[in-house]
Amino acid sequence: MSSAAELKQNDNLFIHPWDDIVKIGDHRRTLLDKGEGVYVYDSEGNRLLDAPAGMWCVNIGHGREEMAKAVYDQIMALTYVSPWSMTTGPAAEFASKLAELSPGDLNHVFFATGGSTAVDSALRFAHFYNNMRGKPNKKHIISQKKGYHGSTYLGGSVSGKERDKSNLHFETDLVHHIDAPHPLHKPEGMSDAEFLEWCVANLEHKIAEVGAENCAIFVAEPILASGGVIVPPEGYHQRCLELCRKNDMLYLSDEVVTAFGRLGHCFASEDVFGIVPDIITTAKGLTSGYIPMGAFLVSDRLIDEIKSQGGDAAVFSNGFTYSGHPVAAAAGLKNLEIMQREKLFEQARDTGPYMQQQLQTLRDIPIVRDVRGKGLMACVECELIAGENDLAMDFEIGNLIDRHCQKLGLIVRPIINMCVMSPPLTITREQIDDMVSMLRRGIELAYEEILTSEAGTAGAGNKHPSPAA
Ligand SMILES: Cc1ncc(COP(=O)(O)O)c(C=O)c1O
Repeated sequence: MSSAAELKQNDNLFIHPWDDIVKIGDHRRTLLDKGEGVYVYDSEGNRLLDAPAGMWCVNIGHGREEMAKAVYDQIMALTYVSPWSMTTGPAAEFASKLAELSPGDLNHVFFATGGSTAVDSALRFAHFYNNMRGKPNKKHIISQKKGYHGSTYLGGSVSGKERDKSNLHFETDLVHHIDAPHPLHKPEGMSDAEFLEWCVANLEHKIAEVGAENCAIFVAEPILASGGVIVPPEGYHQRCLELCRKNDMLYLSDEVVTAFGRLGHCFASEDVFGIVPDIITTAKGLTSGYIPMGAFLVSDRLIDEIKSQGGDAAVFSNGFTYSGHPVAAAAGLKNLEIMQREKLFEQARDTGPYMQQQLQTLRDIPIVRDVRGKGLMACVECELIAGENDLAMDFEIGNLIDRHCQKLGLIVRPIINMCVMSPPLTITREQIDDMVSMLRRGIELAYEEILTSEAGTAGAGNKHPSPAA
């Protein structure tokens, strides 16, 4: 077995997501080799609280033996069959469990391999639906700036994170973006009610601009997760859904992050935001990241419409070798069983508001600009360090805070000038206290480092508030 140093060196051959190719060869990522509950351990044995639960996904926590057993048993019983011509008990059972738990009449499940392929498949389904009902012009997709919907060509195209748009090619004819409903960007002097109207009007205007006769679907995360945990104004999703209904458009709620307990419920669309969309996409917490899997759930209404208008056959020519993989489905079933048996959604309904309340105490750190979130997803946004341009890459406070936090025993997810947290649903109040106090220290140390480096830079100016401010 290679040593930790050799593994770190070999890791330079692994092109990671969002890798900076120019820096390949220089990366020194933290090497983790063990996980237990809300903690992971690095190769030197240091314990780190996993505040992002990996990548918003390890909802039941790390190292569950019964998950390993369920996966092992399924591999030994039957590893794989073609989902084209066969089916398996776990896939069929998991589909029926998801249908039971989903809102309204979203009773049909398409299994994908992760969130990107779930979103991509769902968008293709929307195109298919309109073809089948004789409306082939209705193909345009409206989504949000700062939204993230994956890394397939179409998923990446509907994603709206500005910084990701520079180096790749995207579908731009069919995809349109509207402003994110970001309360921090509410124009000065605008009331909350006016802000809601303004956000909804963005969608209304975009539909009018593209032409309702061309619009297929609106895509939105209930809370924009990797865009910085942006919680829309109350009533936003309901009003957008009404607009979709009025304009004969579908509504896709991308619950890749928000489903499976992150907001205290199995799905957030109806229980938290009061909407029953036409399609929900999900992944991550679906199997708590133990085995890759994604899915979209679609309403009986759409299926029935296709059945009644599709003629003799209506083949949805879209699928994956691993759609409904029995091992992933077995992991999904066990994951759900654990969540329900341990009442993890109920636990998240208690610890979520507590985490939000405790994080608010960080507002007194001069460099903290905003603390926001809902349930067990939160963001601490700091002042911009690189100047006025929040897309600048030269000095990222989020990375700096994460580096300090890791030395203190905490992983946060750095996004430019933000730290994002979405811990396992099993986190306790004591562990939240611990997380918040490590984060406080990490931000303070990062701030001290910035002040020290500015003091040593002639003409750095008075860009940041002083510690006493
Ligand atoms: C809201 C949302 N949709 C889709 C995706 C893509 O999921 P995956 O990375 O599993 O392909 C993500 C990933 O973070 C996400 O946050």
